[in-house]
Amino acid sequence: MKSLRALHVLALLVTCACDKQSKSNKLTVGFSQIGAESAWRTAETDSIRSEAEKRGVDLKMSDAQQKQENQIRAIRTFIAQKVDAIILAPVIETGWEPVLREVKRAKIPVVLVDRGIKVSDESLYDTLIASDFVQEGRMAAEWLGKKLNGQGNIVELQGTAGAAPAIDRKKGFEEGLARFPGLKIVKSQSGDFTRSKGKEVMEAFLKAEGKNIKAVYAHNDDMALGAIQAIEEAGLKPGTDVIVVSIDGVKGAFEAMVAGKLNCSVECNPLLGPAAFDAVEAIRAGKPVPKKTIVKDELFDQSNARDVIASRKY
Ligand code: AHR
Repeated sequence: MKSLRALHVLALLVTCACDKQSKSNKLTVGFSQIGAESAWRTAETDSIRSEAEKRGVDLKMSDAQQKQENQIRAIRTFIAQKVDAIILAPVIETGWEPVLREVKRAKIPVVLVDRGIKVSDESLYDTLIASDFVQEGRMAAEWLGKKLNGQGNIVELQGTAGAAPAIDRKKGFEEGLARFPGLKIVKSQSGDFTRSKGKEVMEAFLKAEGKNIKAVYAHNDDMALGAIQAIEEAGLKPGTDVIVVSIDGVKGAFEAMVAGKLNCSVECNPLLGPAAFDAVEAIRAGKPVPKKTIVKDELFDQSNARDVIASRKY
């Protein structure tokens, strides 16, 4: 009886020791997410969360509600928590140096996902995994130029001021438009990447320009979907009276293309979880990682939306 009890105690001790070991081997990663402003953003969050779960990573996620100061606060908390790595989706490009210097001093690797930053010292982050936003803007302009036969007035719904995709998608679009001198951007304003702001700004554009507007270029699908609502409420047909082109390729955009209301969406892949954790693991194993990994994107329009909608993952 005594020896049975002793065996039981021994078994308990072994289990505790194993538990401790697996806990200490578990990676802890802090993820500073921008917010939940768009369907794209939600898909990115889901991708990072599910990949962390798959790999047994303890993920500490913080939602910044589109404010840089919240992201900086979250990063300082991650340092205090001594996380093994930080994944950062930076809301805007500038203002990161002081906090990233603190991260570097704490010897915590930084993986940037989706948006880039401007820093004088590139060693403040390890790697960036993102789409080529300039190229997305160029693809949208090229498609629109052909659709409008190079003639017409365009209104532009920009993303969050100071954000890499807003800056680069504007730049790329303007570069693409240079080939079509008959196309003009007559109004351009930020809709902050949200559907409600996109609708609000489009209403103002329609009031000011009315039937003068031949097309809307929105820096993301959510703003385009908001603009579509505004166009309909103004008694016009989106997709016909006003051509709508945007970026992201989310499910809602495909549904709108199939319904004939959205004309074109340039994909921007948000499923960055696997690549982000591959990078974290490689850095921690001392393996070299590229400074930048560009995610490949495709263009979809009403000619192929119906064929691919069922296979879309976000
Ligand atoms: O940084 C990627 C952009 O941010 C997506 O296009 C947009 O939907 C999101 O909010």
